[in-house]
Amino acid sequence: MWLLFLACVGEEESKDSTVSFCRDTPVVTYENFGRSFLTESCDGCHAATTTDRHDAPDAVTFDTVEEVWRWDERILARAASADPDMPPQGGVTDDDRVRLQWWLLCADPGT
Ligand code: HEC
Repeated sequence: MWLLFLACVGEEESKDSTVSFCRDTPVVTYENFGRSFLTESCDGCHAATTTDRHDAPDAVTFDTVEEVWRWDERILARAASADPDMPPQGGVTDDDRVRLQWWLLCADPGT
């Protein structure tokens, strides 16, 4: 149910909807979720230090919390939308995709 959230709201209503979506959600941050999630699921191709990026763009790196927040909207679109395509090989659980939304939609930006 939560996964459909991003798919269902338009620009206009998205701000209000985000407020209600985020009411009563657990506090999810880079420290308690994001860092380990990204390391496991994304950094094989997206870390600056990876030796084989599989053609992931050089600019799209998730090595620090600041870099992640530079890409928050694209991360949500690619990994937590109704039809996610990152990582390309799949394997991320729905639970983790929901946590990704709780983090990047609901946490204080930059945390
Ligand atoms: C197997 C390698 C691989 C893994 C793992 C991977 N990516 Fe990617 N990623 C790519 C490639 C290749 C591209 C460039 C082509 C494209 O955009 O589809 C890309 C592009 C992107 C972009 C930039 C394009 C845009 O839409 O703006 C984002 C954001 C992104 N990936 C997020 C993620 C996230 C989040 C994860 C982990 C949940 C992840 N990727 C895991 C290979 C990977």
